[in-house]
Amino acid sequence: MVFYETKAKISLDPIVGLVQTAAEDNSVDKLLAIVGSAMDDSGKLIVPDTVNQVASELCAKSLNMAYSPSSGLKDLAPLISQEFIGKETLAALYSDNIRRAEVVTGGGTHAISATLMSCTKTSDPIIVQRPHWAGYDSIALGINRTNLYNFELLNEDDSFNINSFEKITDRAVKSRPSESNSKITLILNSPFDNPLGKDFGDDVWKQIASILAKYPEQEFLVILDIAYIDFGPEAKNYNKLSFLKDFFATVNSEKLSVVVAATLSKSFAMYGARVGAATLLSASYENVSNWKDVVGGTLRGTVSNLARTSQEIAFEVLKDETKLAQIHQFQKDTVAMIERRKNHFIDSISPKLPEELALIKPDGGFFVSLKIKNEILNRFPEAGKELSERFIQTSTYIPVLLDQYLRIPVCGLREELLDQVTERILKYTVEVLVPA
Ligand SMILES: Cc1ncc(COP(=O)(O)O)c(C=O)c1O
Repeated sequence: MVFYETKAKISLDPIVGLVQTAAEDNSVDKLLAIVGSAMDDSGKLIVPDTVNQVASELCAKSLNMAYSPSSGLKDLAPLISQEFIGKETLAALYSDNIRRAEVVTGGGTHAISATLMSCTKTSDPIIVQRPHWAGYDSIALGINRTNLYNFELLNEDDSFNINSFEKITDRAVKSRPSESNSKITLILNSPFDNPLGKDFGDDVWKQIASILAKYPEQEFLVILDIAYIDFGPEAKNYNKLSFLKDFFATVNSEKLSVVVAATLSKSFAMYGARVGAATLLSASYENVSNWKDVVGGTLRGTVSNLARTSQEIAFEVLKDETKLAQIHQFQKDTVAMIERRKNHFIDSISPKLPEELALIKPDGGFFVSLKIKNEILNRFPEAGKELSERFIQTSTYIPVLLDQYLRIPVCGLREELLDQVTERILKYTVEVLVPA
C-alpha cells in the first residue's frame, strides 16, 4: 500500500528528519547545526522590525479572515516579480517580446511544486544539480515525479561543470520516447544554491543557453530557484537576473519557458508565513495568458487559497518604498553577519582539515559545505554514512547530504558554536575517515 511504502516520510528527509531525531535527544552535549534560518548570536530568528510592525498594525485593525483568491491577492504577485526579477530586467525582456504572468504561492517550495504539477507529466524528465537541496527530492516524491537526472554541479576546481550539464541534458533529451511530447524540466538553483552557495555567473548562463539551443524541437521548462538571491556579497541587487535577456535570445525558442520561483521566506525572514510567487516568462503568448488560470487551478486543488494575512503583510511592505528599504537594510546586515561567521569558520577549520575533506568556498547564501573526497577514500557511500552515524551517536547534528557533503548553516550559528562545529568535524572525520 503506497501510504506505508512512500519514501516521502518526513523522518527520511535528510534535513527535517534530522531535526526530528535531534528533538528527541536530551544530551547536554547536543550540538545543532541543521536549519537554514538566519539567527542572531543569541539563537533568535532575526525578523525585520518592519515586518513585525506591519503585522501588528494589521492585527490592530482586526484581521480580515475572508478567503483570498486562489492565485493570490490582487496585484501582489506582480510586486513580488518586480522585487525579485527587477523592473529593468522585466522591461528588457518585454522589449524582446518575452511576456510574463505570475501567481502568488505559499513560498518557494510551493512555487516549484505547483509549477511541476501544472506543467509536467509524471514521466517527464527533471534535471537538477548534484548536490542539491533535499526539498527537490521531497517535491518529486510528493507529486510522483520519478524520471530524475542529476548533473555534477562542480568540476575539480570548483567551477561549473558544463560538461556534466551537457551530457545529462543530452541523455534526458535522447531517452525520451520519440513519439512523446514530453517536456524537460531543469531546476536551476542560482544565484547562491543550497548547499554550496555558488553563483553560476553570466558566462555559465550563456553556455547553458547554447546547449538548450541545440535542441530546437525540445520543449524546456527552466525553474529558476532564487531562494537565496538577496544574500550574495551585495545583498539586494536588482540586476542579478539580467542574464535572462541573453538567455532567451540565445535559446530563441517559443518552446522555452522560465519560471522564477521566488520566496519571502529568506528575503523578508517570513519563513513560516508562506509567501512567494511563480512567475512565468515566455515568448509564447498562449502559455503566458493561460498561466494564472492553469496554476490557479492547481492551487485551488491543493491549498484552496493562500493565507490572507501573510499576503497582506507582504503587500504592505512591497508597495511602500521606505519599508522596502528597511528590508534591504536587513538583508545587508544579515549578509554582513553571515560573512563574518563564514570567514571565522573557514579560517579556523581550513588549516586543520585532513586531506579526506575539502572545503567548498561559497559565493554567497546561508551555508558552507565540506566535501568528503571519495577519490581518496574510495569508500562511497559507506564513508559518508559512517560519519553521519558517528555524528548522531555523539549528539552532533550536522547533515551529511548525499553521503558526501557536510552542510554548515553559518547563517544560524554564532562564532563560539561554529568553533564547536569545527572541533567535532575534525574529531569525528579523523576517527571515521582517516586510516589509522
Ligand atoms: C534551495 C531552496 N529553494 C527553495 C526553498 C524554499 O523555501 P520556502 O518553501 O520556505 O519558501 C529553500 C528553503 O530552504 C531552499 O533552500
